[in-house]
Amino acid sequence: MKKTKLCELLDIEYPIIQGGMNWIANAELAAAVSNAGALGIVSPTAGMRLEDDQEENLRSHIRKAKSLTDKPFAVNFPLQTPDVDKLIDAAIEEGVKVVTTSAGNPALYTAHLKEAGVKVLHVVASVRHAQGAERQGVDAVIAEGYEAGGHNGFDELSTFALVPQVVDAVSIPVVAAGGIADARGLVAALALGAEGVQIGTRFVATHECIAHQNFKDAVVKAIDTGTVITGRKLGHTRGLKNEFTAKMLETEGSGASPEELLVLIGLGRSRSGELDGNVVDGELYCGSIAGMVKDIVSAGDVVRIIVEGYDRVVAAL
Ligand SMILES: Cc1cc2nc3c(=O)[nH]c(=O)nc-3n(C[C@H](O)[C@H](O)[C@H](O)COP(=O)(O)O)c2cc1C
Repeated sequence: MKKTKLCELLDIEYPIIQGGMNWIANAELAAAVSNAGALGIVSPTAGMRLEDDQEENLRSHIRKAKSLTDKPFAVNFPLQTPDVDKLIDAAIEEGVKVVTTSAGNPALYTAHLKEAGVKVLHVVASVRHAQGAERQGVDAVIAEGYEAGGHNGFDELSTFALVPQVVDAVSIPVVAAGGIADARGLVAALALGAEGVQIGTRFVATHECIAHQNFKDAVVKAIDTGTVITGRKLGHTRGLKNEFTAKMLETEGSGASPEELLVLIGLGRSRSGELDGNVVDGELYCGSIAGMVKDIVSAGDVVRIIVEGYDRVVAAL
């Protein structure tokens, strides 16, 4: 398949990024994705316990990923993470060359990362935020629609509507995220003007991902309507429907304040769902494309199947 500007920017073969995934974007997953010619991403909290040291955890995943691949890989930093500046400096010290930032202001760390020779891609959910990120000097934006698993933008723009508007509004490469899991999604994203795609949910159901087997099985079992957004007063979050999301929606519907909702969520709810396999009342970040994920395969095969399907989809147009 054709090389895009994203491939050139990141020195990768295929314009596919495995999204950062709090708790479950581990070194083995990232390395498998990078070895297949796409870009793997490590998350600072991958596999750790709540009481563990996040910086130590991050360093160990970066070192492990380096031992498993000599291809480029990245680290994702949700910018509201406490002490994120220390984590960013640790990644720079460990020689990480690409970073994605999300859920925060790109004005805070982009210049620092760029001075250290690190490429920065920032996740956005609106044209205004994409333009702001471009002004801060990021190398590319990841335009994420609200189909995506995990935290979404407040305005609930779909990937199909968001991506072409962002493409028209900025001159840096745009990566499409949210609702993409196969070659059709990749081709559609490129047709909308994106230079590549970021995929999360499909990579949960892979052998290398550290997610609990119960979570992987729940993704495979999910149907098209199997996810829901909760937390509209706090920060929209898409996850698999379960007792927890039902309780959240009921409590939100009763007019609970953001503070009351925070108490309901408590600490480590998504860790409990995603790493401990508590699929009943844990939180399970998951995108609405889960209904199309029918099996657990290797992360390299996810990339290979998309790449192999690309020519077939283009030829059928
Ligand atoms: C389990 C899970 C955890 C996620 N955690 C993060 C995160 O920590 N930081 C981030 O920027 N995005 C996070 N995301 C979003 C992904 O990086 C990616 O953009 C998104 O999953 C793409 O949409 P898709 O789920 O439809 O593939 C998460 C997604 C999932 C499914």
